Order: sequence, then structure tokens, then C-alpha cells
Amino acid sequence: MNYQEVLENARKNIGPNCKVCPVCNGLACKNTMPGPGSKAPGNGANDNYNAWKKIKLNVDTFVENSPIDTSTELLGLKLSFPLITAPIGSIAMQFNPTDDVADFNEKCMAACESRGIFHAYGNGRDQRVWDRAIESGKAHSNCGIPVFNPGTNEHIMELMDLFKDSMPKAMSVVVDSAGLPHLKSFNGKGGGTKTIEDLKELKAHAKEPFIVKGIMSARTALKAVEAGADAIIVSNHGGRVLSDTPATAEVLPEIVAAVKGRSKILIDGGIRSGLDVFKALAMGADACLICRPVLISYYGGGQEGIEIYLDKIKSELEDTMYMCGARKIADIDETMIRV
Ligand SMILES: Cc1cc2nc3c(=O)[nH]c(=O)nc-3n(C[C@H](O)[C@H](O)[C@H](O)COP(=O)(O)O)c2cc1C
Repeated sequence: MNYQEVLENARKNIGPNCKVCPVCNGLACKNTMPGPGSKAPGNGANDNYNAWKKIKLNVDTFVENSPIDTSTELLGLKLSFPLITAPIGSIAMQFNPTDDVADFNEKCMAACESRGIFHAYGNGRDQRVWDRAIESGKAHSNCGIPVFNPGTNEHIMELMDLFKDSMPKAMSVVVDSAGLPHLKSFNGKGGGTKTIEDLKELKAHAKEPFIVKGIMSARTALKAVEAGADAIIVSNHGGRVLSDTPATAEVLPEIVAAVKGRSKILIDGGIRSGLDVFKALAMGADACLICRPVLISYYGGGQEGIEIYLDKIKSELEDTMYMCGARKIADIDETMIRV
């Protein structure tokens, strides 16, 4: 299989809400929610995508012709390149009613294990999603990172306790899901905003490196750091929780200026190539997440489809590093891009 075949297969399997566009830019799906789109009026995903395109790369081939090394370390995790596949809580609700998000998590973990990276997985309302993700984690070198929705602290801590026999290498809470209607109505355990004290309690309970997802300003990044976050994920949930927020690439510089060195900085939202990963690193991020194209690759080829996609991103990153004068991840800096 090649990537074009992955896309062709995905068009047959993914259901009516996603058009599997040649580039996943959030335009054709716009405000399809349920589906892969953004919250009405639906510009969020496309804004994220466009922001990366505005950043340009500076070629520098006046460097030693030595091999490229994309490996990196994050919170003690070794990554063969700085990417984590992003969490998705439910696919049955968004694509076809019989789709199984636990199978998506299993295939992602298998692919991430084989490619030496990690898979972050979402908080389905169905308890069996967690049980099966725990089994997948055990089968695949513990390469899964649970990302809990902002239910009550009591509920999140109950979920954390499910992992006692197979602790993941990091745990995360996604704070911006607070507004998702289907979580608010979840049997009294559902979504809500969090205080710094709430997050401190969760961090203490997690015991593992603690990641806060859904940070979109220096102000909220500083709150997450005060709560003890070992890493933050700059994310607007792909435009799915509020429209007219800035693009993630637009807020990254102010967040890097505020918290770099005090917390690791991850970012997602419209990252569609190894070139975009390079740009994010040059702006000060430590790693990136990609969501929708990974899901499309799953529909197009299961584990193999995801591996083909991950190989594509890694090879584009290698090429960009080669052309911009970086030989290892630590070489990448802001002089290599034009913002
Ligand atoms: C169908 C769908 C479901 C998602 N479910 C979750 C979730 O359960 N938890 C979460 O933290 N983020 C969730 N997200 C957000 C993604 O993890 C990610 O932050 C966002 O899509 C931006 O990345 P992208 O532009 O590469 O898609 C979901 C996104 C989509 C499209």
C-alpha cells in the first residue's frame, strides 16, 4: 500500500462526514459536528492549517553533510521523532455507528510502537474503551498516554486508578473539553472548568508526568505550570470547542516566551506535514500531535495505514532538517524559519 491508496480506501470506509481531502485542511468538513469538522461557523480547523502555511523555511545547505537524527526525549520518554498521535474519544458518534474507538486505539498503539512514538487516547464515555486501551498498552510497550476529559476530579481519579497495574508513562487532562455538550450531561460525572487547585489534586494523584491539554494563551499556560503541569499541549481542540479562537501557531510564541524551561510544550492543530512539525519545533515546541489525518489513515489501512502516514511525516521532517541545516532535533531553532 502507498499513501494514495490509503486515502482511496479511507474514502470508502470513513462514512459521509469526512471527504478525505488530498490535504486535511478543515474546509470541506467545516462545521460537521458530529463528524470531523469544527464548531459552527466552522472555521477553526482551517484557521489552524493556514497559520502553519504562513510560516516559511530558511534553506541552509552550508553545513556538514552528516546523517539526520530525528530522535528526541520528552518527559523521560524516548521518541524516534517528536510526534504523538492525538486523542479521539469517540468515532461511532462522528463517523459510522458501528465504528469502534478501542480498535482505533489498538491500531494506533501498534503503529506507534513499531515506529517508536506514543499514542494519546481519549476519554470515551464507555468504560470498556479504557479497559481495552489498558490491554493495548500492555501489548504495545506501554506506548499509550490516557487523556482524561474534565469530569469531576473524583471521576478522573477513579479512572486513573484503573491503571494501577500498568501505569502509563504519562497522564493527561484535556481542560478545553469543558464545553462539550455530551460531556456536560454525562450522569453527573461530566465536563466542567477546572481550578488550579483541582489540577494540583489530579497531578498529585497521577504520580506520573502530568500533561494539561487545551492551552491557548500565556495566561492559561502559567496557570497550568502553577498547577504543576510537566507539559502543556497548546491546542484549541481542532476548532471543535469554540470558534474564532486564534490558531495554535499564532499563540505558540507568547506561550513559549512565558513558560519555556518550566514545562515541556507540545502543540497540535492543523499540523499536516513534517515541514509543519519542523516549524513548530523552530518556534520552541518540544513535540507535536496530529489527529484527523491519523484517523483517516486508520480508516484507509488500519495499523499499516497509520504506519505509512507516520513514515511520511518522519521522512518530511528529515528532509526539512537536511535542507535547513539541522542534523539533530536540538539544532532546530528560530533562525531556520521566517514568521
Ligand atoms: C473526531 C474527533 C474527536 C476528538 N476527540 C478528542 C478527545 O476525546 N479528547 C481530546 O483531548 N481531543 C479530542 N479531539 C481533538 C484532537 O485531539 C486534536 O486536539 C485536534 O483535532 C487538533 O488536531 P488536528 O488538527 O491534527 O486534527 C478530537 C478531534 C476530533 C477530530
